[in-house]
Order: sequence, then C-alpha cells, then structure tokens
Amino acid sequence: MADELILSGESREEKYQTLIPQIKALIADEPDLVANCANIAAALRQTFNFFWVGFYFVKGDELVLGPFQGEIACTRIAKGRGVCGTAWQNAETLVVSNVNDFPGHIACSAASLSEIVVPIINKGQVRSVLDVDSDKLDDFNAIDQKYLTDLVEIIADRF
Ligand code: SME
Repeated sequence: MADELILSGESREEKYQTLIPQIKALIADEPDLVANCANIAAALRQTFNFFWVGFYFVKGDELVLGPFQGEIACTRIAKGRGVCGTAWQNAETLVVSNVNDFPGHIACSAASLSEIVVPIINKGQVRSVLDVDSDKLDDFNAIDQKYLTDLVEIIADRF
C-alpha cells in the first residue's frame, strides 16, 4: 500500500468509491486495531476535510474516546447520552442535520453543526461507534450512511 491516498472523482460518492478499496488495502496486513482506526480517521478527514472524525470504543457502560482527527473531544460518553450514546443504545446509525436540535447533544465544539454516527457491531454487540462531525448544517445523507457503513464493515470483525 502506498503511503498516499489516490483520490479521483468530484462527488462525495465518487470519493468514497475510490477511498474504500484503499482503506481495505491499508488495514489488510496490519493487525493492530488502534493503528487501523487511526489511519481510517485520518483518511476520512484528509479526503473530505470533515471537522472531526473519530472512534469511541465501548468499555463497560461507557464509550471511551479512541483514535480521532480534529479538536480535543469528550473522553467518556454514557450509554444513551448524546448522538454517540444514542446510536450505541439503539444499535443504529444516526444522521443529525442540526445537532442543536438533537436532545442531549454533547457539544464538544460549538463549531460542529451536523453529525453522523455509525455503530460498529460484532457478534451482535455494538463494540464502537464511528463519529463524523461537520461544521456545515445538513452535511450528511444516505450516501454517507451507505459508504460509512460499508467502511466500518471492513473492520467490524476485528473488534
Ligand atoms: N457530538 C457527540 C459527542 C462527541 S463529539 O462531537 C466528538 C455526541 O453528541 O455524541
């Protein structure tokens, strides 16, 4: 795997289509989960310039901050709290077009305006969530949901 991402295409969907096979190759021979999550967060941020991209790992009854790219963030999130804790509790992806309208949203940064959180499920349990935040309102849609779901499925069995 080259050290650089080769991205082609203009639309976000085209970028996902060129990015995901490269992420697959990037993590294929690396067994370390933290290293792989770190590179996935970096690849997403580098490709789309999202405001914040990162993983929270389920540890006991909390989510604990894992590898991320962006500003410092909340370290621990209780089950059912905020967008991340709700996606964990419900084991479903949440697309939030305006975080200020989401009851209980945890504002790590006032600059974050919309968000998508994708749970990572292995053996029927949520093990982690991938959280992507944007500084634009309504920045995520079904395209992001589809490709970010495909992306976490590449790594879900490592959790
Ligand atoms: N906004 C998230 C908290 C995590 S940070 O944005 C990085 C939430 O409400 O779950």
